Amino acid sequence: MKRTLWSWLGCCLLVSALRIVPPPENVRMNSVNFKNILQWESPAFSEGNLTYTAQFQSYNSFQDKCKNTALMECDFSSISKYGDHILRVRTEFEDEHSDWVNITFCPVDDTVIGPPELQVEALADSIHVRFLAPRVVNEFGIWTMKNMYSSMVYNVQYWKNGTDKKFQMIAPYDFEVLRNLEPWTTYCIQAQGFLHDQNKSGEWSQPVCEQTTKDETVSSWIIAIGLIGSVFLAFLMLLSCFVLMWYIYKKIKYIFVPGNSLPQHLKEFLSYPHHGPLQFFSIPPSDEDEVFDKLSVITEDLQSSKQSSGSSCKLRTLAKQDFFEPVSEEETAHQTQ
Ligand SMILES: *[C@@H]1O[C@H](CO)[C@@H](O)[C@H](O)[C@H]1NC(C)=O
Ligand SMILES: *[C@@H]1O[C@H](CO)[C@@H](O)[C@H](O)[C@H]1NC(C)=O
Ligand SMILES: *[C@@H]1O[C@H](CO)[C@@H](O)[C@H](O)[C@H]1NC(C)=O
Ligand SMILES: *[C@@H]1O[C@H](CO)[C@@H](O)[C@H](O)[C@H]1NC(C)=O
Repeated sequence: MKRTLWSWLGCCLLVSALRIVPPPENVRMNSVNFKNILQWESPAFSEGNLTYTAQFQSYNSFQDKCKNTALMECDFSSISKYGDHILRVRTEFEDEHSDWVNITFCPVDDTVIGPPELQVEALADSIHVRFLAPRVVNEFGIWTMKNMYSSMVYNVQYWKNGTDKKFQMIAPYDFEVLRNLEPWTTYCIQAQGFLHDQNKSGEWSQPVCEQTTKDETVSSWIIAIGLIGSVFLAFLMLLSCFVLMWYIYKKIKYIFVPGNSLPQHLKEFLSYPHHGPLQFFSIPPSDEDEVFDKLSVITEDLQSSKQSSGSSCKLRTLAKQDFFEPVSEEETAHQTQ
């Protein structure tokens, strides 16, 4: 009885000792651009700090990649990119260890295509985009994902900043032009690698936002309109200046030469060549040239005209004779005597 009890106890202890260390949890491969990181989480274990060993299969045997590491990840980037690999990891505590946890991994199929880098140059109605393919890790910076996947193209989407409507296009090469854009508008662009044959999309790049420039044709139109406008304005100013000067000239002419105020018949008189203004105003006029008209001065006797209109003629002639003729005769008589 005692023997069987002891053997049973020993068996139980042995089993418990073997199973005492739990295996790592949530084992997974995190691979982007062939940077292959095997990751796991620590199991619940209260007795002390655990370590881990991770291996990969090479031909028919396993080789250590990370041995007794306290970290919860192991870098498998150096393994071949092609073919299926079996990777495994286990937990260790002192002399004991857990079971292996196995995963199968094929780098070329399973690695994630990282986001491309975008270089953008904005013009008025287009944006030029250059795609820099993500580099393959551990290839000394020579190889890119585009070299690894010759069929890789870029899915591009772009939108006006602040709007939800996204435009899609496929860029087969490393350079693309987004056309028919609005000038003076901010566009955001992002891209991902895409493998048509595998229907496999990469990670989207962060959006790159760039403002398109001013429309050059519009600005030249504005310049042309401005130029025409200023020329027109200058012409208007010149015209108003001319009108003002003409007005002043007329005013001055009116003040100094008030010829326009002369009656019509005088103007006509002055327009004859011999009756120039100088001759007209010259005092005294020369005797030989002048032709005098006879000027009669007739005085009206209002009282006599009231008495009788018939005798007025006689009175006038009499008065004339009384005034001029007798005196002149007497005077001449006296002068002769
Ligand atoms: C466990 O690791 C921590 C640091 O991570 C250390 O401070 C502690 O002493 C370790 N415990 C044992 C039992 O080694
Ligand atoms: C892991 O693979 C080994 C052989 O490579 C096998 O013995 C073991 O049972 C596998 N473990 C699991 C959990 O599949
Ligand atoms: C995009 O638009 C948002 C508002 O809609 C603004 O806050 C942000 O600064 C804009 N980004 C760029 C790059 O213009
Ligand atoms: C490609 O994959 C997407 C999901 O990533 C799926 O929606 C689509 O139907 C697939 N197309 C083809 C042709 O398999």
